[in-house]
Amino acid sequence: MPSSTRSTATSPASAVRVVLVAVVALALSLVATPPAAAAARDAQAATGRPGITKKHFGTLAGGQKVDIYTLRNARGMRVRILTYGGIIQSIEVPDSRGRLANVTLGFDNLSDYVKRSPYFGAIIGRYANRIAKGRFTLDGRTYRLATNDGPNALHGGNKGFDKRVWAASPFQRRGGVGLVLTYTSRAGEEHYPGTLRARVVYTLTDRNEIRMDYRATTTRPTVVNLTNHAYFNLRGEGNGTILGHRLQINASRYTPIDKTLIPTGKIARLAGTPLDFRRPTAVGARVNSKNQQIRYGGGYDHNYVLDSRGRGLSLAAKVVEPDSGRVLEVVTDQPGLQFYSGNFLDGTLRGTGGHLYPKRSGFCLESQHFPDSPNHATFPSTVLRPGEVYRTTTLYAFSTE
Ligand code: GLA
Repeated sequence: MPSSTRSTATSPASAVRVVLVAVVALALSLVATPPAAAAARDAQAATGRPGITKKHFGTLAGGQKVDIYTLRNARGMRVRILTYGGIIQSIEVPDSRGRLANVTLGFDNLSDYVKRSPYFGAIIGRYANRIAKGRFTLDGRTYRLATNDGPNALHGGNKGFDKRVWAASPFQRRGGVGLVLTYTSRAGEEHYPGTLRARVVYTLTDRNEIRMDYRATTTRPTVVNLTNHAYFNLRGEGNGTILGHRLQINASRYTPIDKTLIPTGKIARLAGTPLDFRRPTAVGARVNSKNQQIRYGGGYDHNYVLDSRGRGLSLAAKVVEPDSGRVLEVVTDQPGLQFYSGNFLDGTLRGTGGHLYPKRSGFCLESQHFPDSPNHATFPSTVLRPGEVYRTTTLYAFSTE
């Protein structure tokens, strides 16, 4: 997709000049001569108009360069994305009084992402969440994955999609700016069968949404489950815990887990449990309940079976932070949503703004297929075969109330 720019106007008053600049901008967007386009993008960043700019972020030990793209929409919302892991590094959105804050957890340098990130903001693949004992059987063949989470495989293995450099191509169109990211995962990488061509399109819309369109194809039968692992704190990253956030999840059932966080295979009702978020409830209200499921998770770390059952784009969850008035809605076509209350954060990571991240200072709402689906015939299938196209869409929509 071409990188283009729509409006570069810096000129004031004169309507003639404005029209002239608009014409030049349009011509630029059509021709998209790289240096001119780059210069125009820089000008946009300086003038605060919608657009997308690129900068060098860091270099990996092997010499691979990592870029950071800044996307800015017509309403001044800004999102930064790294080519490393397709990581959403920052999300700046207004509170109810119009004050911007970065509401996602992250780092200001590449080395922390490489060495100590608990998947902050990253694209997760080839299989998000857990696969029991790192083992699954497909068409009569058993595959063994690395076990990187106790006895289980987690988030694509030792070097999942979150640790790969993605090829990036920016675009700008009516109503939004975005970035197309692509990555080819070779057959055998992390022991998964088939070469998987993955594409994730991030669009920052003028409605203050981050839209994520995922697509993948394979050369051999394989399993796929892609998601994004952004941690949110709607008070602003580094500004306390998320325990006062009010959460609603449109799910009446969930997949209970064993002590290694693997689904037992049952699909259970949430009614009457401290995991029920059908009515808006503060995250902290029941997070320390003496409930066995909550104990296993060390808080919330569970897959919710969405009432929409993966039939079309629907509102999966809504989070309201009362002090700032910020609201996050998660809209998805996936059948499941992992609600993780940041239980493993322990105050040792220093984030983007220079503050330490204590326990439960961020939460994740990961749209997904159910964990360990390859080992549960009764769960919706995650198998992708040659000729089929894996497609899924999730939106993070921001507003205030
Ligand atoms: C997911 C898992 C959690 C944890 C985090 C990363 O949300 O479900 O158990 O591994 O990722 O720390």
